[in-house]
Amino acid sequence: MKGAAFSRIVGTGSALPERCVSNAQLVAELAQRGIETSDQWIVERTGIRQRYLAGPKLTSSQLGYQAALQALHSAGIAAGEIDLIICATSTPDFVFPSTACLIQAQLGCAGAAAFDVQAVCSGFAYAVATADAYIKTGLASKALVIGAEVFSRILDWNDRGTCVLFGDGAGAVVMTGSDSPGVLAARLHADGRQQHILCTAGNLSGGAVVGHPFLTMDGPAVFKLAVKVLDEVAREVLDLAGKTPADVDWLIPHQANIRILSAAAKKLGIAESKTIVTVDQHANTSAASIPLALDYGWRSGQIKPGQHLLLEGVGGGFTWGAVLLQI
Ligand code: UT7
Repeated sequence: MKGAAFSRIVGTGSALPERCVSNAQLVAELAQRGIETSDQWIVERTGIRQRYLAGPKLTSSQLGYQAALQALHSAGIAAGEIDLIICATSTPDFVFPSTACLIQAQLGCAGAAAFDVQAVCSGFAYAVATADAYIKTGLASKALVIGAEVFSRILDWNDRGTCVLFGDGAGAVVMTGSDSPGVLAARLHADGRQQHILCTAGNLSGGAVVGHPFLTMDGPAVFKLAVKVLDEVAREVLDLAGKTPADVDWLIPHQANIRILSAAAKKLGIAESKTIVTVDQHANTSAASIPLALDYGWRSGQIKPGQHLLLEGVGGGFTWGAVLLQI
């Protein structure tokens, strides 16, 4: 198969669990466990007002499937036409098979290549960059790129420093080959030396959990590094594409904390009004946060065809990446 000049996003979708938990509800639930927090602390420090939390049976593949169906519908493409499925997740249904394979089975498109990408909150940027490369080299022609998470499963509900920050959900896009742009530039990075500042350092061995099966984070260290590397990688993709911050119509960062979003926009010199913000509604949904924000921006009519979008992710690993594209 001949590669395409560009890859383009031609459809978006998203899915959230039914249960929406406000800060007030969470504060009351945590108080019953003897954990003290407040709506004021959560809003002031993070901008989060609510999050959606999965019930015990809802999985990443089910959320990813729902988001993928919506993305296919909005693209006007049948599942059978898809030849590549990449799912970014750090909360897969199983050790294996991959979440992407489980989604493929639900979609009924056997034959398409399917694999997961594990780059935590940068996962969606990694997955879009990977699909772009596959499409440009002719390894695939129509891709489903999904970010799906049930982060609530790996939270320590006795750790107020992390459990108030995350939510569950999924977002998806369909990408196809095109003669017109499209993805203009993408860059991915990692620094494994920083693994300890954000991790879930547990595993399964001999039928038991070994290590620590809950997310742990040095919040201030992650915050500082995130603002620095987001700025660097954003400038890198803009330079690669021969663009400047003034060319960006919408900044769509990983939705971890409104203060990180504001700092990233300010450092780049992009008006805050040009940032898609969903962290107040969804909290931090890790790999799902960028596609959830993208789908929200598209469906709400804020994002218009032909506009330049700068997607940027940062997360555990430590990983970071950005994609500049025209929609
Ligand atoms: O998705 C991957 C990327 N992740 C991120 O980008 C997260 C980055 N980090 C952050 O967003 C912020 O560091 C946090 C929101 C996690 C924390 O905000 P902070 O301003 O850095 O606060 P802190 O960790 O320095 O804690 C300040 C205080 C501490 O009390 P003392 O020691 O000053 O008395 C904490 O114990 O806030 C306390 N605290 C809380 N208080 C009420 C921590 N969590 C809570 C809480 N409720 N939930």
